[in-house]
Amino acid sequence: MFNIKDSKFTGYDYNDWFRYLKRNDRERLKIDFSSEHELTNREREIIFPSVRAFQRGEQSDGKCLVKAAVRFAKKYGEDKYPDVMKLFIREENFHSSYLAQYMNHFNEPLKKNNGLDHIFRKLRQSGGLFMEVSVLVTAEMIALSYYSALGNVARMIDSPALADICGQMLHDELPHIVLQSHTLGLLGTGPVKNAFRRFLMGAATIAVWIAYGDLLAQGGYWYKKFRSENFGYLAQSIEIADKTF
Ligand SMILES: [Fe+2]
Ligand SMILES: [Fe+2]
Repeated sequence: MFNIKDSKFTGYDYNDWFRYLKRNDRERLKIDFSSEHELTNREREIIFPSVRAFQRGEQSDGKCLVKAAVRFAKKYGEDKYPDVMKLFIREENFHSSYLAQYMNHFNEPLKKNNGLDHIFRKLRQSGGLFMEVSVLVTAEMIALSYYSALGNVARMIDSPALADICGQMLHDELPHIVLQSHTLGLLGTGPVKNAFRRFLMGAATIAVWIAYGDLLAQGGYWYKKFRSENFGYLAQSIEIADKTF
């Protein structure tokens, strides 16, 4: 489990985030497929259903999010926030492209839509920035557990390309969680919002486990561990938001 709340990112303002994301944008992962071997049918069955879903989930044009970010920037005088979120959306689209490259290498078809992703998107767009960012950060906290599990599976099946992708995702997602937690803090925290965030995490944890528990278990995440890590990340996110507020 990662320590998010004590990372160097927790003191960042939006100017720092802009500089960080710009710098990160110059260091994109070049995936090396030269050591990949053919995957067995069983290995494909284990990894691709969830990889396909996350490939889709990481991808977004971010139009609603940018609109909400512009409104927030005006209201709170945080001029840099929309630019930060544009760089953030760009980074998420790179994540999607890493997984797409991996799937293409193994001739696996990409998926246009999936049920869970659809629910996440509708939910995000159903409210203002609080809703957008709360749902987003819930998915990102679950992503930390998921890519940890997928990375373990990648090493088990000897797929260095997939292990590298997972490493890059973990490297990028942890700061994202700090960034969204900072914004949630500026929007104001409190017991009702925190209860809602716990409800979201509980529902998302169950839904992802039902859909992709097989992969998570192969990667060393039984339900109890998956749930406790997700809620551990949420506790850290709430702590960061409370400190910002
Ligand atoms: Fe991502
Ligand atoms: Fe992210």
